[in-house]
Amino acid sequence: MTDDAPGAAIRRHYAAPHLLDAILAALGEAGIDETPLDPDRLAPADQFHSRGLAATEALASLAGFAPGAAVLDLGAGIGGPARWIAKRHPVSVTGLDLSLDYCRVAARLTARCGLEDRVRFVEGDALAMPFADASFDLVWTQHVAGNIANRPQLYAEVARVLKPGGRFVLHDIFAGPVAGLHFPVPWATAPAMSHLLRPNRMKTLLGAKGFEAAAWLDMTAPTLGWLDGLAGRRTAPVGLGPWLVMGADYRTKLANLRRNLAEGRIEIHMGAFRRTA
Ligand SMILES: C[S@@+](CC[C@H](N)C(=O)[O-])C[C@H]1O[C@@H](n2cnc3c(N)ncnc32)[C@H](O)[C@@H]1O
Repeated sequence: MTDDAPGAAIRRHYAAPHLLDAILAALGEAGIDETPLDPDRLAPADQFHSRGLAATEALASLAGFAPGAAVLDLGAGIGGPARWIAKRHPVSVTGLDLSLDYCRVAARLTARCGLEDRVRFVEGDALAMPFADASFDLVWTQHVAGNIANRPQLYAEVARVLKPGGRFVLHDIFAGPVAGLHFPVPWATAPAMSHLLRPNRMKTLLGAKGFEAAAWLDMTAPTLGWLDGLAGRRTAPVGLGPWLVMGADYRTKLANLRRNLAEGRIEIHMGAFRRTA
């Protein structure tokens, strides 16, 4: 693949050839050696989005999981949300991600948790998903769309892989009323990697693809509160924590996330939509 291949910058941003070893070492240092591993034990490191596990729980309450449902986690990262869903609900979860490193880490951690019969990971691009039409009952996504410029294509793909009447739940970062961002942020080292929309623009695009809104929650204030709590704790970067996926400059990325939120440059929302057409 050439350096200017579609998605190359995003793949580089999320490249993590030593991440599995780092996570296994952190588990060992914490004395966590149970088999199968409880997926919740990994939550400090494998919920790669603002507000961590609390956000996954909140999105799950918007989603609803019918027994036996086929769930797609779009941009699954290292699989924390997918494992959390499968631990609590009798569903099967497919995680799709552009980063091969992340897919490999996700699969290994999932096997360690004994969930590999119901949770699988596939390397691929959300803009051209390697799934047949109408494959899923629910598409779930957290903090992925901000890396994707071609939103009409993204939402066309979400509509294509969803069964009619299926649901799409999202927890995303949006552009705020104030232009311009401070970089780096967790999803982008530079402006060319960041593609945020205003909420109404995204709702209009989803409407055009046949989605009807079922719920919308502004998570900006709770996220600011969470970031203030993290800054107050000043945790050293040892053991299981967000530094493992975010890298050595994680403090700068989190500080910029907070500053962008506080200055009205970004907002964070959750939404639930139903595919009507
Ligand atoms: C901030 S991480 C969030 C991971 C996961 N959703 C979570 O909350 O733990 C963003 C993820 O989106 C993935 N991603 C970005 N663009 C993508 C694309 N076009 N197709 C598939 N995955 C993509 C990245 O590889 C990365 O794993």
